[in-house]
Order: sequence, then structure tokens, then C-alpha cells
Amino acid sequence: MNILITGCAGFIGYSLAKKLLKNNKNNIFGFDNLNKFYSIKLKKKRLSNLNKNKNFKFFKIDLADKKKLSYLFKHKKIDIIFHFAAQAGVRYVSTHPEKFIHSNILGFHNLLSTSKEFNIKKFFYASSSSVYGDSNKFPVDEKSKLNPKNIYGLSKKLNEEYIKIYSNEKTKYIGLRFFTVYGEWGRPDMLILKYLDYAKKNKTFYLNNSGNHWRDFTYIDDVTKILIKLINKRFKENEIFNICSNRPILIKNLILYLNEKTGFNKIKNINVNNIEVFKTHGKNLKLKKKINYSNYSDFHKNVDKTINWFKKYNHLI
Ligand SMILES: NC(=O)c1ccc[n+]([C@@H]2O[C@H](COP(=O)([O-])OP(=O)(O)OC[C@H]3O[C@@H](n4cnc5c(N)ncnc54)[C@H](O)[C@@H]3O)[C@@H](O)[C@H]2O)c1
Repeated sequence: MNILITGCAGFIGYSLAKKLLKNNKNNIFGFDNLNKFYSIKLKKKRLSNLNKNKNFKFFKIDLADKKKLSYLFKHKKIDIIFHFAAQAGVRYVSTHPEKFIHSNILGFHNLLSTSKEFNIKKFFYASSSSVYGDSNKFPVDEKSKLNPKNIYGLSKKLNEEYIKIYSNEKTKYIGLRFFTVYGEWGRPDMLILKYLDYAKKNKTFYLNNSGNHWRDFTYIDDVTKILIKLINKRFKENEIFNICSNRPILIKNLILYLNEKTGFNKIKNINVNNIEVFKTHGKNLKLKKKINYSNYSDFHKNVDKTINWFKKYNHLI
């Protein structure tokens, strides 16, 4: 099978590509613009790991570049797309809102309109728990009200709406609402790796809302297993799934655990940042019915694995 992964130098794209390449039957094409949102060194190291496999081929492309996108689709036969390239990072919204428009709205449109001519069987795309905004009934399911609180969440909601208008009979479009994905090779802007990096540098860590937030942390290995199980399933024209472990963690407790493991406690509690939602907690029953996956791995063991990964690779961050 020929699979295109956009954002393949990023956390989820890389992790999925690595796992798919273990099966020799897959050809993986990946593209990424290698932007500077976080460490380029980390993105390049991920790519060099993938490049060791002859079934992987990388293209440096920005989603805004329609010419290069068309060239890629004309010259490579693609069966399935995993679209992960996007501007992520809720806090980045306040300083760089235009990046979200560029990649998540214009870029999304470009990929969709270009790929439409080429008989793609399945088009999986990353949405986010951010589409829900602040809810008052948990866990949220795929039918819960969408009320994004920031431009990032809005861009993902727009992607989902866009698909409704765009979908066609040839291609199945599957939206993946990821909830706080973490683990080895993860994103340095997200809590666990950020905390570990601050600990290493002995820099004061500012803890939003004194850690009274909840996040439904979902381990990368569970995520990639889920995605691989989804590949061969049959779908309606346009479907959406929560990708979450359905086990929210209070941030304060995670910080205590990290503190215990690292000895680092230079933490300053700060007031709530209104751009962030108070709690994420998703229901994953729809996904369970689709792929029969409920064996989500242990949170603390996964955090330990992430800490061990950081010990070995912190020079990349
Ligand atoms: N990690 C999470 O917890 C999480 C949660 C919800 C949703 N998501 C979504 O999942 C997807 C993957 O997230 P991630 O954590 O791997 O993020 P990431 O930032 O690690 O990966 C995204 C990759 O896309 C690339 N990219 C960005 N804009 C691009 C453009 N215009 N053209 C080409 N490449 C571009 C970046 O260089 C990066 O390597 C994103 O769409 C993100 O919004 C992630």
C-alpha cells in the first residue's frame, strides 16, 4: 500500500511512519516544511531515522505550495493519506495566529483540493479535542457541542466542516480528534518534555492555573496502534472519532509525579490562561466499536518511558 503522511517530521506523523515501515509491504511518502515551531534538530533526527528505511521517501513541501503538491500526486500513486501537517500548540495562537491560518486553513484547502483529482481511497486528517472548547458534560463524545476557545480549535472545527462540503464518493474522509498525545519523540512545547527541559536547565517552570487543569493524556504507542487498525476498516463517506484514553489526569498530580522522579520543583503557580480549556475528557466508545481497542497502556509507566527517552535525547531539544 502507498501511504502519504503529511507532517512526517512531526511527533505523530513520525511515530506512525516508523511503525508502518516495520511492515515491508508499505511504501511511505512523507512531506513536511520543517518549520521552526520547535527544535529542527529533533525533526531532522526523526527524519534521519525514517530515511534508513528504503521504503520511505521524504519531500520538503509546504502545504501552501500547490505546484509541489500537484507534482507529488502526479508522480506517486497514493492510496491513503494521513494528514498531520498543521500548526499545533494552543499557546502559540496568541503570538502567531497567522501561522494557523496559513497551514491549517489555506494548507488544508490546498491538500484537499489537490488530492481530490487522484482517487485517494481514505483521507485521515488530524482534528483535535480543542474543537470542543469548555464543556460542562464529560466525557465528551463525537456528537457533543463544538465550541472552540481559540483559533487553533476553530481551524480544526473548520477542517471538519470543510470536509462535509468537500467529501465525495471516491474518498472516505476520517477525522481524528486527538487528545493530548505524549510519549517518546514527543513535542518539546507540550507539558512533559517542557517540564523535563526546564528541569535540565534549572529554569523556573510557570504552572498555568496552579495545575488545576485536567487532560486526557493519550500515549503515542496507543495512538499509532489505533491508526493502523483503522487503515483497513470500512467507513461511511465522512466520519469522526475521538482518539483518547478516557482517563483524564489532574495536571497538579502529574507535576508531583515528575517532581518525585526528577527532584525538580522550581515551579511558580500562575493564574488561569483563558485561551486554554479547563478539562479534556473524551469518550472513546465509537472507536472501540470500530476497532475493538480498549487496552490503553499505563500512564505512569509511559511517563517513565518518556523520562528515559529524554535522558538519552535531550540534546535534540
Ligand atoms: N500532539 C497532540 O497532542 C495533538 C493533539 C490534538 C491534535 N493534534 C494534531 O495532530 C497533528 C500532528 O500533531 P503533532 O503533535 O505531531 O505536531 P507536530 O508539530 O510535531 O507535527 C506537525 C508537523 O507538520 C509540519 N508542518 C506544519 N505546517 C506545515 C506546512 N504548512 N506545510 C508542511 N508541513 C507543515 C511541522 O513542521 C511538523 O513537523 C496536527 O495536526 C495537530 O494539530 C495533535
